[in-house]
Amino acid sequence: MATLRLKDVRKSYGNAHVIKGVDLEIDDGEFTVFVGPSGCGKSTLLRMISGLEDITSGTLEIDGQVVNDLPPKERGIAMVFQSYAIFPHMTVRENVAFGLTIAGASKAEKEEKVAEAARILQMEHLLDRRPSQLSGGQRQRVAIGRAIVRKPKVFLFDEPLSNLDAALRMDMRMEIGKLHEQLDATMVYVTHDQVEAMTLADKIVVLKDGLVMQVGSPMELYHAPANLFVAGFLGAPSMNFVTVDVQSRDAAQAQVSNAALEPIAVAHKGRIAGEGKAVLGIRPQHVRAAQPGQGMLHGQVMLTERLGAETVVDLKLKDGSKFIATFAEDRVFEPGESVDLTFDPAQAHLFAPEDTTSAPH
Ligand SMILES: Nc1ncnc2c1ncn2[C@@H]1O[C@H](COP(=O)(O)OP(=O)(O)OP(=O)(O)O)[C@@H](O)[C@H]1O
Ligand SMILES: [Mg+2]
Repeated sequence: MATLRLKDVRKSYGNAHVIKGVDLEIDDGEFTVFVGPSGCGKSTLLRMISGLEDITSGTLEIDGQVVNDLPPKERGIAMVFQSYAIFPHMTVRENVAFGLTIAGASKAEKEEKVAEAARILQMEHLLDRRPSQLSGGQRQRVAIGRAIVRKPKVFLFDEPLSNLDAALRMDMRMEIGKLHEQLDATMVYVTHDQVEAMTLADKIVVLKDGLVMQVGSPMELYHAPANLFVAGFLGAPSMNFVTVDVQSRDAAQAQVSNAALEPIAVAHKGRIAGEGKAVLGIRPQHVRAAQPGQGMLHGQVMLTERLGAETVVDLKLKDGSKFIATFAEDRVFEPGESVDLTFDPAQAHLFAPEDTTSAPH
């Protein structure tokens, strides 16, 4: 059993405050994914959990025990990095057993644990090879094997697949998912890859500038983003943002429109105060083509990308804003063609224009 709890965790390097107060609870056996733009503090947070980096202030608890001052090797944590730090002069077997060798484990214990890790990772046939005789994915499996044999309470992964090509990434992503199921271990995983985040995570933590923007299941974050930043960060292509005028507002909904948008009522979830400007978020996948001259949103085709299974259309709306629409079919649009779109207002999101820095969770 291993739960993690971070309470107001902060990290500063001199005057540079890189983690600005993170509160987070990770349950036993949970697969948690950290996402956020480059430099937002994902690796720093992971390194603080592992003990490789000091915590400037706040507390880190593992299983209810404060471990701020516990050295890394006593925390029961194993970390796997982007660059698979395996030794070129050792065989796979020796690499996987490395941590056990250092700890003075017996030959029998090493053999048993290496065999188990090799079975889980399906690399029994690779044990006598050296890293130079392995593919990138196989090398990363060796690094994961080295983590497994230590029977850690918590696995930390820092972009473990980002050096691999697309096909290998997909294979390894599924293997990591299976590994989590088999080991039932608590895992914290950093990635830039949306598909990895959405498919592997029980819980996604979106970070920006050293702060947590939102914590939730992949679908909670996708369907109910708490702010503009999360809305624009998750989903590909990104959610469209259209600046609109708020004509009126009741307790639940606001009536909005602009030069390109017919008046519609959208739930405001308390995020806008009154009349004035607001930002309407619409995912590219949530629009449909309307009959010419009808629909709710009007624009002109700039560019079309036909991908076979879907068509991505770059539009310029009548109010001048850019808008991307995707259609789950092959369609032909001519540049300059007028397009009228319709969508379900229940799938749209309304934000205050500056609603990017709130940190609700
Ligand atoms: N030793 C250090 N001294 C000063 N600043 C540092 C140090 N290490 C990291 N930083 C800064 O802390 C911030 C967070 O870095 P971190 O490596 O955690 O980002 P990240 O979210 O992992 O980014 P990436 O996605 O690029 O890996 C960055 O602005 C970085 O420049
Ligand atoms: Mg990083």
